[in-house]
Amino acid sequence: MDFNKVIEARRSIRSFKSKKADWKHVLLAIESALHAPMAGNNNPLKFIIVENPETIKKIAKFSEQSWISQAGIVVVICSDNTVLEKLYGDRGKIYCRQQAGAAIENFLLKITDAGLAACWIGAFTDELVEQLLRIPEHMRIEAIIPVGYAAEKPSYKRKHSLENAIFWEEYLISKRPTIFPESKIGRNPPTG
Ligand SMILES: Cc1cc2nc3c(=O)[nH]c(=O)nc-3n(C[C@H](O)[C@H](O)[C@H](O)COP(=O)(O)O)c2cc1C
Repeated sequence: MDFNKVIEARRSIRSFKSKKADWKHVLLAIESALHAPMAGNNNPLKFIIVENPETIKKIAKFSEQSWISQAGIVVVICSDNTVLEKLYGDRGKIYCRQQAGAAIENFLLKITDAGLAACWIGAFTDELVEQLLRIPEHMRIEAIIPVGYAAEKPSYKRKHSLENAIFWEEYLISKRPTIFPESKIGRNPPTG
């Protein structure tokens, strides 16, 4: 898929068809996740791939989001702060969250590119999911991602405008200073 199309096509999907996603696509998405930038090139992330329908049901229950049980595969992304904290102190914890986010987005984009759908789940009872999956104490769950074939099209349109998200040169300056040359680059720059 074209790069812009993948970015625009990625949506949070909360209803899945009964056809299960191929786990090989999930592995490829994890490989893409591992291409994300990592502070000091340290990877603190582990990915638990869950296919057992009973375990998936429990994850849905512990997230209080019953639709998750429709997914044939759920990926639980965990991180270990230890190395980054040793290297960077308290900032190491922030780096860990940030690079988990970068990795998760890569994962979601690759899943979208494969014609699959997913949703980033951040609301769950940590202790219950940790216990269920035997996640050791030094690890933290960053996100839970159910994966499947979309059985819905999100009805709402995105509401975040570029205009409202940017400032120029300083906070709260909404207009680009005219002293800079005009850019010739359009949204889809010509190739070659
Ligand atoms: C950190 C984080 C936590 C989220 N947790 C949940 C969740 O628990 N359940 C859910 O249905 N969606 C969750 N989402 C998905 C957001 O609701 C969704 O990304 C947002 O509504 C925008 O929709 P879109 O992903 O289709 O662009 C989460 C997203 C993020 C980034």
